[in-house]
Amino acid sequence: MATALTMEGIEKSFGANTVLTGVDFAVEFGEVHSLVGENGAGKSTLVKILQGLYIADAGHITVDGVQVKQGDRVPAKDLGIGMVFQEFSLVPSLTVSQNIFLSDDSVNRFGLVNDREAKKRAEEIFAQMGVTIDVNQVMEKLPTAQWQLTEIAKALVQDVRILILDEPTASLAQNEAKALFGLIERLKSQNIAIIYISHRMDEIYQIADRITVLRDGKKTLTDSLAALTPAEIVEAIIGRRHGGHLARHDRSENIADEVLLEVTDLSIDGFLTDVSFNLRRGEILGLAGLMGSGRTELVQALFGLTPLQSGDIRLGGKLIHPTSPKKVIRNGFALIPEDRRAQGLVLDHSVRENMTLTLLGQFSQGGFTKKARERDIVARIVDQLAIKLAYPEIRVNTLSGGNQQKVVIGKWLGTQPVLLMMDEPTAGVDIGTKSEILDFIRAIADSGTSVIFVSSELPELLSVSDRILVLKDGTILHDLNPADIQSEEELQLSVQGVSHV
Ligand SMILES: Nc1ncnc2c1ncn2[C@@H]1O[C@H](COP(=O)(O)OP(=O)(O)OP(=O)(O)O)[C@@H](O)[C@H]1O
Ligand SMILES: [Mg+2]
Repeated sequence: MATALTMEGIEKSFGANTVLTGVDFAVEFGEVHSLVGENGAGKSTLVKILQGLYIADAGHITVDGVQVKQGDRVPAKDLGIGMVFQEFSLVPSLTVSQNIFLSDDSVNRFGLVNDREAKKRAEEIFAQMGVTIDVNQVMEKLPTAQWQLTEIAKALVQDVRILILDEPTASLAQNEAKALFGLIERLKSQNIAIIYISHRMDEIYQIADRITVLRDGKKTLTDSLAALTPAEIVEAIIGRRHGGHLARHDRSENIADEVLLEVTDLSIDGFLTDVSFNLRRGEILGLAGLMGSGRTELVQALFGLTPLQSGDIRLGGKLIHPTSPKKVIRNGFALIPEDRRAQGLVLDHSVRENMTLTLLGQFSQGGFTKKARERDIVARIVDQLAIKLAYPEIRVNTLSGGNQQKVVIGKWLGTQPVLLMMDEPTAGVDIGTKSEILDFIRAIADSGTSVIFVSSELPELLSVSDRILVLKDGTILHDLNPADIQSEEELQLSVQGVSHV
């Protein structure tokens, strides 16, 4: 194997915040090298230096034998480095194929002069990836997973020799992740070097050859995966031993008999057909299903974001009409959306402003008391979710991806919703914090809030849910008691629609 790149003694600070110290990192051609660490450990920053977005304060970088001069930006495009970003970089109003060929370089390289060729080439890339996407559709009409796949296609079209994937599966369902892994295997066999950032241990074992762990901006481990146990990796990540956090808790004593929400024959054109279920006060209802099964559409409909075709929704026995989020927020509904960038955060506002947005109106006293109370609440939430930030007034878009996700969750921690809906809340969140979020969900349910929890991570669904509805093609396939499910595989089969649980 030939060395694709070496980084030695890399240092990077943002103002007074030192993010990387003396980091060494090397990748071979034909190798999948996984980069892991807690939220804010410095993973994205390290690869953004490789991508030429940031300049390292110190250190040496050599790419395919070419030494990058210190203080210079890495000329990523010229060196054949491509990156799939953790945060989407697509233009919502453009089509899939337009987005893929957005940069002038690719247009030149392929000599694309018209839309028709762009479409054809885009379709080829997706076929190579093993996925079907309508390349003529505008991005804003497509679900998050398809954004992710389009980002990947956009990087691949550049003929890269070193490919960086920053949490590419955070918004993919299991079958799509599988298609991506097949693609990575193919790229590997073409001798492409792949840097793979992820918080999911199972997939790292599945596809990576080596692993490097960062903790607080320092390298704590580089080794071949075959030589390591998951416990050793977790210890390098969090600096201590970590107990299993996905044990099931029996919460039946904390669930009231009283039905809070009654959904009857709910249908949404093209997405859901005659969905009926009850949710009791204090109950945690898990929603399982593949992408496109209707999980996201269901919570969005309840939150007033998608108009209903037909069906009744009763809250405490009374008929309600969720025609807008504003209306249902008054009923005490809350939604932590799947796509935090579009719906969850005001990115150029501070962390404090984002967190207290949902509390507006809760503080009747003005001025000083209000400010002081806000500060208290924000400090408590930051502590509770271990959000890594320099100070609460910092803008949200300077936070690492996982810490932004924690702010989205934190927004609702200060309120006491009647119904809390969460769509993939732990996507992109590190191992240590995941269990804290699951504990938070249990605690808020114990205090009487009913929870609807959408997740593609089955171990987590099995751990936190009191009941699991499996959706397929817009209908409820199974209504399961997690206590009756023997293994993750069993739930996986029923999600795929091939078992008779
Ligand atoms: N442009 C920036 N300005 C200021 N601080 C920044 C900037 N980019 C990153 N940081 C800080 O650098 C630290 C590392 O962030 P980075 O995005 O590299 O983390 P990460 O390991 O990718 O985490 P995650 O798993 O959450 O994505 C964080 O504390 C973050 O707030
Ligand atoms: Mg990151």
